[in-house]
Amino acid sequence: MNNPKAVLFNNTVLRDGHQSMAATRMTTPQMLPAAPILDGMGFAGLETWGGATIDSCLRFLDENPFERLRTLKRVAPLTPQLMLLRGQNIVQYTSFPDDVVEAFVRCTADAGMDIFRVFDALNDLRNLTTAIKAVRKSGKHARGELCYTISPVHTVDNFVRMGVELEKLGCDSIGIKDMSGILQPQLAFRMVKELKERIGIPITLHTHDTAGLGAANYLAAIEAGVDCVEVSIVPFANGTSQPDTQRMLALLEGHPRCPSFDPARLSKLRDYFEGVYVELGKFTSPANERVDSDILIYQVPGGMLSNFRTQLKEQGMSDKFNEVVKEIPVVRQALGWVPLVTPTSQIVGTQAMMNVKFGRWKMICQPAQDIALGKYGLTPGPIDPGVLAQVEKQTGKKPVTGRPADLLEPGMEKYRKQCADKGLPTDDETVVLFAMFPQQVESLIKPKPAAAAVAASAAPIAPPAAPAAAATVPAAPAAASAPGRSSNGRPMVITVNGRRHEVSVEVFEG
Ligand code: CO
Repeated sequence: MNNPKAVLFNNTVLRDGHQSMAATRMTTPQMLPAAPILDGMGFAGLETWGGATIDSCLRFLDENPFERLRTLKRVAPLTPQLMLLRGQNIVQYTSFPDDVVEAFVRCTADAGMDIFRVFDALNDLRNLTTAIKAVRKSGKHARGELCYTISPVHTVDNFVRMGVELEKLGCDSIGIKDMSGILQPQLAFRMVKELKERIGIPITLHTHDTAGLGAANYLAAIEAGVDCVEVSIVPFANGTSQPDTQRMLALLEGHPRCPSFDPARLSKLRDYFEGVYVELGKFTSPANERVDSDILIYQVPGGMLSNFRTQLKEQGMSDKFNEVVKEIPVVRQALGWVPLVTPTSQIVGTQAMMNVKFGRWKMICQPAQDIALGKYGLTPGPIDPGVLAQVEKQTGKKPVTGRPADLLEPGMEKYRKQCADKGLPTDDETVVLFAMFPQQVESLIKPKPAAAAVAASAAPIAPPAAPAAAATVPAAPAAASAPGRSSNGRPMVITVNGRRHEVSVEVFEG
């Protein structure tokens, strides 16, 4: 039964599966019947938490995310659980002070999390160090992630170098994180093979099947010696999610590294999740289920393309689709070839639309200014000098060269005092959640007049931008909070010359 050479499978259905296929809306009660079946059937890990799940628990599901974690740990105690952590951004979109990152990791480890997948949108290692150290200090497993993207500066050599650095930082394993599903088998093979030659810690490949290449990437990586791949369960699998477990097993049948899973339990899980998928019908979409190789031409996440079509239609710019898509690499190059992953995907997309609408670099949105000024970290390539000069002129600021979080004062005691002032509990768990989602935490813990619910739904949710831009640069758009959001995206309102434009931004974080 146990094949010592078998590749390990992690299962993502309780996190990435529903984040990718159903806008992160699976509830804890919907997970509970499946979790004990998933547990102890041979998965090396269950991804259950992190990414957008915490936001979704607080904003849409009226759930305490830490309670979800404790509950899942109770009903599935045998298999290590995984979470996705956005480095210094924790599970938000802007940098937090080190003490908040450390407290978050500590609370999460105490609540039962075992493996932390730590990534940074820019692959700036300085944004990962605090989180990795905190995970190690809690005695848990730190998996350092390489965010895969395609650009002239994202070569296999550079990714391998980063893998070596992550091992030196003390990571217990490395993840290759192909959040857009644009990795291709020959590259997957090379990257895994070269990483295996250079580092001694295990390697996991995480991909999405958006372009239909996910299972082929896994097969190539398995040939190259990858230790673990991540799979989901149909119908929260394939398409924009991870390849399905049964599908991967069929592909590997007869292969010396094929693992073994009980088919009856897999069928039971599938039947169960079919029902949940129907229950979440409001949040699912045929576009997520479709395999579409277009993303390989445009080299951007699939969801971003479908989102663009909707946004452009809303603004009467449908005829500009090709122009906007062609503008994405122009913006990426000018902004140092940032990978397209939360939050940079939203920022690059918005700027590409503005370039087409108002003329190239006529207006630069505040978050794009911040990338140029190094506020998110060191970009993979240099910022275009012309764009940087314009940003410096508009903002009167010079680029930050140090680690962005070094500019932040410790935050825990400040947030603790704010909690106390509002009559909220002041334990670390409440305080770290409050630091990231103040209105939502307040309304969850201190309900329930109708007004509180309205305030929560109108909370600012596009933190990469700040209204201040409008004051310093009169012509520049200011982002503001939005009254709600579509089932799959985060709305960002940009105001240009007094006219409000609501754009919906997708979360692509793999
Ligand atoms: Co993913």
